[in-house]
Amino acid sequence: MAGQIPQHFIDDLLAKVDIVDVIDKRVTLKKSGSNYSACCPFHNEKTPSFTVSQTKQFYHCFGCSANGNAIGFLMEYEGMHFVDAIESLADSVGLEVPRNAQAKQVRDDSKPLYTLMESIAAWYQSELRKSPEAIDYLKARGLSGETAKRFCIGYVPDGWDGLLTHFPGEEAAMIKTGMLIQGDGGKRPYQRFRKRIMFPIRDRRGRVIGFGGRVLDNQEPKYLNSPETPLFHKGSELYGLYEARKSAQDAAAAIVVEGYMDVVALAQHGIDNAVATLGTAANQQHSEALFRVVPNIIFCFDGDRAGRAAAWRALTATLPCLQDGHDAHFLFLPDGEDPDSVVKAGGAAGFRDLMSTRIPIIDYLYQHLASELDMTSIGGKATLAEKAKPLLASIPTGVYKQLALQRLEALIGLSLGSKPAAPQPAAPQRPASPSRAPSGKDSGLTPMSRAVLLCLQFPQVVSTVPADDFDINPQLPGADVLLKLIGYCDSDPQMSTARLLERFRDGRSHDYLIKLATKPYYPDGRDIDSEGAVSEFAHCISRLRERSRQRLADKVELSARTGLLGLRRR
Ligand code: UTP
Ligand code: MN
Repeated sequence: MAGQIPQHFIDDLLAKVDIVDVIDKRVTLKKSGSNYSACCPFHNEKTPSFTVSQTKQFYHCFGCSANGNAIGFLMEYEGMHFVDAIESLADSVGLEVPRNAQAKQVRDDSKPLYTLMESIAAWYQSELRKSPEAIDYLKARGLSGETAKRFCIGYVPDGWDGLLTHFPGEEAAMIKTGMLIQGDGGKRPYQRFRKRIMFPIRDRRGRVIGFGGRVLDNQEPKYLNSPETPLFHKGSELYGLYEARKSAQDAAAAIVVEGYMDVVALAQHGIDNAVATLGTAANQQHSEALFRVVPNIIFCFDGDRAGRAAAWRALTATLPCLQDGHDAHFLFLPDGEDPDSVVKAGGAAGFRDLMSTRIPIIDYLYQHLASELDMTSIGGKATLAEKAKPLLASIPTGVYKQLALQRLEALIGLSLGSKPAAPQPAAPQRPASPSRAPSGKDSGLTPMSRAVLLCLQFPQVVSTVPADDFDINPQLPGADVLLKLIGYCDSDPQMSTARLLERFRDGRSHDYLIKLATKPYYPDGRDIDSEGAVSEFAHCISRLRERSRQRLADKVELSARTGLLGLRRR
């Protein structure tokens, strides 16, 4: 571990610095394929075998096996100590290394904050049961007690100090989490939310990180949300994602709506794969978070002007996330309607009817651009191509992108070279060898090593496998490391190769992991791509489960297993 510097800081740091910049300042790098290369600074050589991967944030020398992340590079190249390397990197990106005592506190502090928020949510729920007015309001909006319970909806009575009375001694923590507002001039703090229906907002691990509160009448503001706090960043959170996760996975799609009540009302009618942005426009972080759970996002918008503007922003934010296998659709509601009013009037069937009118994201892209152009004229068609180009460029290289470009060609009646022959600078693909190495024995690696390699090189594969499938016998050789990796990947969607390795820096598996982090997956020296990684990972895990069951039959203690099943369910 990193001594007194908190892991989360090192994570942030590794996310902010770019190893290519760090190394290029000291050793001139040349782009070569998807990587960068140079003559190795750690041994004498004439032809470059030192490569730096930007995606993995990792360097490796095929000649002398030197390797590591940005921190490791500085330690080796500059002969720095670990802490000095951190300081130097932090300096270069304008971060301040938290001082020891304070740093430790930030970490230790967060846990009680989450617990406190959970207790506050529970108190709001108990207050709801005591308030006929609030119960009537929810009933009038068509919610059952069951739905209210599913979302842990609560109520905060009027008054300034309910929280202070119920959670004495937690003043500072409640100010920190935005539940209390510090009065001016040393006056007592008072509670931010008063006389409101309270919707707890959870992070993807189910922890309460903030609240949205709605008035019972026409007062303003209609909704009040928690402010930005150490726990709550509204630009990247989605209301209802934790609750919707399972259904969304089953439906292979998530519906993005605007409001708390839309999510809740849809769930009331059995459509429980909806989530809401928190009063902000849907951005790329939202799309990324959703694509980690589902392959398809359906954005729901008002048909009015504001709705269309928001839809366009969601479109531009989502294009960069459209790797092959991902898709997005847009659904425009009749003017003045929202999903809540639609299901209220027409039930789930009414909403599903509307759903059938959803438009694929690419169709919407062209529709929107063409709506301002005369597509019967040459100028109109040329302008369409001109405007579409930068948008299409933001789609990751792949079949989806090719098809999107073909659609444009069909619209303007001209070939722009969408064929595979077209130069694709962003596609550093290795020459396709005709037969992909079939998964299995001939890769020279055991299923355990292959699973570890995939976790390391593609941390996002972990979220593609249901948590319950990780019930691998921890006594299998190597399982301890694999399960640790899975835990790390699962707890942080931004997990990267460099971050993972950092967590093992002082452990005995570090060398083994570093080797796997750079090892090509296939025996012929080819790397695997991210899509292949997903299916191979699933395959390896199922092999390991089979093996675990055999071992279990050979009667391995059950107790060791049961600890593991809770991996993702804390
Ligand atoms: P809307 O004004 O569309 O409300 O806000 P709604 O969801 O239909 O609410 P109901 O049906 O009247 O209860 C959509 C979202 O915008 C944010 C909230 O997140 C809300 O769910 N919002 C709205 C605010 O943050 N503050 C406001 O004052 C209003
Ligand atoms: Mn509404």
